[in-house]
Amino acid sequence: MTELSQIEERARTLRAELENHNYQYYVMDAPSIPDAEYDRLMRALIALEKEYPSLITADSPSQKVGGAPLSKFEQITHEVPMLSLDNGFNEDDLIAFEKRLQERLLNVNDLRFSCEPKLDGLAVSIMYEDGVLTQAATRGDGQVGENITQNVKTIANVPIKLRGENIPKRLEVRGEVFMPKQGFEQLNQTQKERGDKLFANPRNAAAGSLRQLDSRITAKRPLLFYAYSMGVIEGETLNALDFHTQRLTALGEWGVPLCKESAVAIGAKQCIEYFNSIGEQRNALSYDIDGVVFKVDDISMQKRLGFVSKAPRWAMAQKFPAQEEITVLQDVEFQVGRTGAITPVARLEPVFVGGVTVSNATLHNQDEILRLGVKINDTVVIRRAGDVIPQIVSVVMDKRTSSAVDIVFPTHCPVCESHVERSESEAVARCTGGLVCPAQRKEAIKHFASRKAFDIDGLGDKIVEQLVEAKLIENPADLFRLNLPMLTSLERMGDKSAVNLLNALETAKNTTLPKFLYSLGIREVGESTARNLAMHFLSLESIMQAEIESLLEVPDVGDIVAQHLFHFMREPSNIDIITSLQDLGVNWPTIEQASAEQQPLLAKTVVLTGTLSQMGRSEAKAKLQDMGAKVSGSVSAKTDLLIAGEKAGSKLSKAQSLNIDIWNEEQMLAFFAEYDDK
Ligand code: IVH
Repeated sequence: MTELSQIEERARTLRAELENHNYQYYVMDAPSIPDAEYDRLMRALIALEKEYPSLITADSPSQKVGGAPLSKFEQITHEVPMLSLDNGFNEDDLIAFEKRLQERLLNVNDLRFSCEPKLDGLAVSIMYEDGVLTQAATRGDGQVGENITQNVKTIANVPIKLRGENIPKRLEVRGEVFMPKQGFEQLNQTQKERGDKLFANPRNAAAGSLRQLDSRITAKRPLLFYAYSMGVIEGETLNALDFHTQRLTALGEWGVPLCKESAVAIGAKQCIEYFNSIGEQRNALSYDIDGVVFKVDDISMQKRLGFVSKAPRWAMAQKFPAQEEITVLQDVEFQVGRTGAITPVARLEPVFVGGVTVSNATLHNQDEILRLGVKINDTVVIRRAGDVIPQIVSVVMDKRTSSAVDIVFPTHCPVCESHVERSESEAVARCTGGLVCPAQRKEAIKHFASRKAFDIDGLGDKIVEQLVEAKLIENPADLFRLNLPMLTSLERMGDKSAVNLLNALETAKNTTLPKFLYSLGIREVGESTARNLAMHFLSLESIMQAEIESLLEVPDVGDIVAQHLFHFMREPSNIDIITSLQDLGVNWPTIEQASAEQQPLLAKTVVLTGTLSQMGRSEAKAKLQDMGAKVSGSVSAKTDLLIAGEKAGSKLSKAQSLNIDIWNEEQMLAFFAEYDDK
């Protein structure tokens, strides 16, 4: 072999290896090598191609890292127009859609639909010729789009070359480019750290990333693609398949990524069930969707139904209630939290968004107000995603009038008038009043009584507020000094509720060390840090006496947490409250006692993966932690147990290769049941 042919051979091998790893990772959801190894192979290929540019091929995986910037995007005329969809908003629309179809198709029964999440990104067309990606375009106006080939090649899960048998001569794959939620959060975090502009939502971030003239920037953005239809098809293989879903499956076999949540339904009733079930999963999905697309699955029926203007008769998008709406910011109030943090809260003209009426939204902090450039009386875009607190996304500047007024951040606490301080390292401004501030007092006691802390039945936020306002309590220990006359002196508190509350307080005295620590409301000490502290030090006394260095030995405890803890435990008023609580009868078993009885998974590292069907993931995680486990996100040699739900992917294979114990959901539930019996 000549030297050049050896080098060609080496390039070919590297390409084949990289293609195979891409396929394993993105299509099979089972990485075959560590990321670092993949990067090493990619660097080797790029170096080889740089040295021998004649070796570069259009289908080389090295194209994934982007190429020289363009001066503008060329226009591309779509061979088959890219259509849009008719929208429906409720069940009646879907039933009417089925009825229209049945009338046109002369009363066929049991219509079969492809049900697909309506991905909230951008429609893109990708042309493969002899299995190689040759061109990609935006939808544009449906007739003419922009040539974004270089950018689309950099999208991690888009194959530059199709794999497998009987690949059509020319195949135009259509689908959505989107940014997964987690990638979006990370991107915004990086943008923030660099002082760059933040994106309002994953869709905008995807659009901004895809329309980059410099594809090396696109390559760094966490974009993904799912195919949902086809344009040009030349060749027998696909045309021989009678159903849209069969054709999608064929694409999947050639390595084209598909949305795993898609399904088939028979008739409008099953479509409605699918819509409701996707609606329930919506917040938990890793990507944003704005509805469900229903398509008649039978291609011959699609052909008979045809099109009206720009939309097919055989498909319909049923939208979820809008998550973004426009309203007016009427005022801004400043709330004081448990740790004195002052949060600006937007009072809005009530507006119906995401299925509920919203009249408040958080503005987070002073920086956020500056970033948005928002003023009182401005028209604003608000967004409500699931059960997340509504947020102001942007200001509609065109609608600003002369009545717009600057938002002035208070220099004194709106509740106790203490000075407001903002440290250099934090975005948050805080009231310096501490427990002198009634707002902080109330919040501290509400936290103490909350479910994950002392879990005091019948002690809701309203009663805490009444008790503090009536000066019957000032701190958590005072709760255990309440008596019947004190409680019945409150408005709307009857004898029976008062007795119940006193009983609940008595019961709550028996707690655990992690809960006790958590309930103190020490800054940055959440449930899991509290648990780690208890496990590490085993007693409250040792935690109270611990120096910074020994606090830092606890898992998840960093400088900031250690500082907060250390100072909290040296503050005489805090020590007083802790001592009083114990004097008043608050107690917990020693960690050794607790572990033997209740913590069968003590010090075990457990990883959860895949979809659980009978128990929410956060519930499972909390239960495992209650049993003493440390729940981690990734599998390593230190993992003791993997719990694999349905569709478990790379973590399962990794655990198998490391010989780690694996349970399915049933085994986990059986274990929980056994533990609950004790
Ligand atoms: S099918 C003729 N399927 O929705 C078929 N579109 O409002 C046209 N979209 O421009 C599109 N998910 O960007 C289809 N599973 C899906 C989709 C989907 C998202 C978007 C697409 C299109 C828009 C139409």
